[in-house]
This record gives sequence, C-alpha cells and structure tokens, in this order.
Amino acid sequence: MDTVEQHSMLEPRSARLARPAYSSLSSSPELSIIVPTFNERENVAELTKRLRKCLARRSWEVIFVDDDSPDGTAEAVRELAATDARVRCIQRLGRRGLSSACIEGMLATSAPYLAVIDADLQHDERLLPRMLDTLKQGETDIVVASRYAPGGGIGDWGAGRARISRLATRLSRILVPANLTDPMSGFFMMRRSVFMGSVRRLSAIGCKILTDVFASSPQPLRFQEMSYRFRLRNAGESKLDSLTAWDYAMLLLDKLIGHLVPVRFLAFSIVGALGIAVHFSVLALLLWPLHRDFVESQSIATLCAMTFNFAVNNVLTYRDKRLRGPQWLRGWLSFILACSVGGLANVGLASSLYRSDHEWIPAAIAGILVGAVWNYAATTTLTWGQSRK
Ligand code: GDD
Ligand code: MN
Repeated sequence: MDTVEQHSMLEPRSARLARPAYSSLSSSPELSIIVPTFNERENVAELTKRLRKCLARRSWEVIFVDDDSPDGTAEAVRELAATDARVRCIQRLGRRGLSSACIEGMLATSAPYLAVIDADLQHDERLLPRMLDTLKQGETDIVVASRYAPGGGIGDWGAGRARISRLATRLSRILVPANLTDPMSGFFMMRRSVFMGSVRRLSAIGCKILTDVFASSPQPLRFQEMSYRFRLRNAGESKLDSLTAWDYAMLLLDKLIGHLVPVRFLAFSIVGALGIAVHFSVLALLLWPLHRDFVESQSIATLCAMTFNFAVNNVLTYRDKRLRGPQWLRGWLSFILACSVGGLANVGLASSLYRSDHEWIPAAIAGILVGAVWNYAATTTLTWGQSRK
C-alpha cells in the first residue's frame, strides 16, 4: 500500500472528498520555473495566470525566490500557493542578488528541466513549451530566449541602456561562445544535469546568471536560441541600477582570476587604496590650510579614511549584504574596531621588520599586506557576516 492510500484511510471521508486528486502531487514536476523577485507583488498573480494558460497539460511548478521584499511579494506568493500546489515560495532573509536567488531556487527542486524567467512579464512566457520540447529532444543542453537573434527585439529601451547592453555583451565574449547572441538574457531553460555539473563553480555574483552558467560549465554547452521581443515591464520598476555594471565586472574578474584570489578581497583592496587617497587629502587639508597639530590631523584623517572605506565597501564589495539604518551604524563601529586592530598589526610587523634590516619598502609592504588580510577577514565576519532580519 503506498503512502497516499495510507493517509486517506486515516482521514474522515469528508476531508477526502474535499481534497483535489493526489496524483498531481505524487511525482515531481517535469519543469520548474524559477522566478527571482524583489518588490513584484503586483506581478506574481498575473505571471502565474499566464503560466497556467501556456503550460496547460504540462507538468510544471513555479518557484518564486524572494529577497524579503518590503512590498510583501512573498506573502502574495504564499496566498497563490494556498490554492495551487504548483506555486512555491522561497523567502530569503538579509540577502540580495538575482543570480544567487536563481541558484537557490534551482537547488530546491528535483524537476529535470529548469527555467529562469523575470516576474515583471518582460519575457515572453509563451516560449516555454517550445523550449521544453526542444530540450526533450535530447540534442540541446540549454535554450536561450534572445533579444538579439533575428526576429527579436529590445522594446523601447533608451539609447543609453541599449549601448551599455551591447558593450557588456561584447565584453562577455571572453567567457561565452561567440555565436551566443544574448549572453545577458535573463530568460532560459536548461537540463538539471547541466546545472548540477557547474553549480559548485558558479560565481553567483550580480544578475547575469546565464553568463555565469556558460562560463562555469566544464564542457561547452550545446545551445539553441529562440528570439522574442522584450516587453515593457508590467507593474513596478527595474531593480537593476548603475552598480549592475560593477557586479558584472566582478563576475568577469571572478571567472578570470577568482581561482587565484577572491574577487571580494580584490574589491576590498581597491577600495582600501582609494581610502589612502582620502587619508592624505584630509591630512593635507588639516595640516596646511587649517594648521592643526599632526597627531590630531592624523587621527581625524584615519577616521575619515576608515569611514570612507566602510561606506564604499558596503555599497560595492558587500552589495548583496548591504547594511542600512541602525545596522549601518553598528556595522561602521565594528569596521572601525576591526580595522584598528589591523592597523596595529600593520605597524607592529612593519616596525619589527624595519628594526631588523632597515629596509623600509619591504617592511611597509609586509605590514600593509598583513593589515589588509586581517581587515578583510575580520570585517567579512564581524561587519557583514551576521544574517540580519
Ligand atoms: N530575489 C531577487 N533578488 N530578485 C531580484 C533582485 C534581487 O536582488 N533584483 C532583481 N530581481 C528580480 C526582479 O524582481 C525581476 O523579477 C527580475 O529579477 C529582473 O529584474 P528587473 O529589475 O526587472 O531587471 P531588468 O528588466 O532591468 O533586466 C532583466 O532583463 C534583462 C534582459 O533579459 C534582467 O533579467 C537582466 O539580467 C537581463 O539582462
Ligand atoms: Mn525587468
């Protein structure tokens, strides 16, 4: 006797009659559609309605992966899920990121085919059945919906955004096949085995999950493209801003040199170098035009540089864990504390090396390196490490 029957026997007859047939729940769906969401409350019901329509007679589910949107998207999804078991919700707390959301959604299903689509109806969901049929024929690993293949289009994007998108596409050629027309696409479907084969190599940085998938696969992917016209966003507004370009640069860097040095450490060091410039500017201002004494000036300059480093790292290096409001203040304090210890280690090591062989450049470099590694390691856990609710 299988478990479904066992359950039914324990339940009163009225409950059994009120419940829809179990059969659709007894096996995992064939296709799982992963939808990353941030503030998409007004769009989730409409997207689900359209999926029901275009995937009628198919076995599917939709997983919304929401980053704790303030507009209550996750709650709206759970309301839909209450009456349709094909709708699922993953709500992540204290995290942000389109790519990492997609990856978590894909890890949460056992469906053999995985699709990614945006929630705002800009992608043409009517391609989904054709994408699935193509994959099921067995000669293709991944089907990409493309805005740049013949017949496709980018809707009414401003000239600026179209130019940036084309530039990023050209840059991505370092990592993806040259004949993939839309490596920035956020709409595609792949076999689960392709995803599992590369999941541990994925960078999960930013929002270009397709570029990441192609660049992380151990073998070249057999792909097909399907053209579509990028539509206007339904409700709400785009979440991607000018810092998306920074994320993309980090993704490319991670793929190119991430195996040698963590790209976050690299970003942290670049910001640190800028902090030195801030330090000297403040110091010069206090010493000369303002005639302040050296120790006072040096202390103020150090505090300014640390604050600058914290604020910029919070926006760039730790974009996915960005601290706001009271958390920002707590983070700032822990950053100053951690970096003060790093500063002591830096000066301590450099002075002792200098005392032993009087070579000031190697002594200074060793001090800076040890200080930087300490600051990075300590603030990664102390400042940005805790999960915040
Ligand atoms: N979970 C989560 N976390 N979802 C996010 C986040 C995030 O930090 N940021 C954005 N999203 C969700 C949005 O709610 C939306 O469903 C989808 O990801 C795409 O975000 P949009 O803000 O609508 O991006 P876009 O329209 O400017 O660009 C999209 O289309 C391009 C062309 O296909 C993105 O998919 C781009 O990656 C893509 O290049
Ligand atoms: Mn969009």
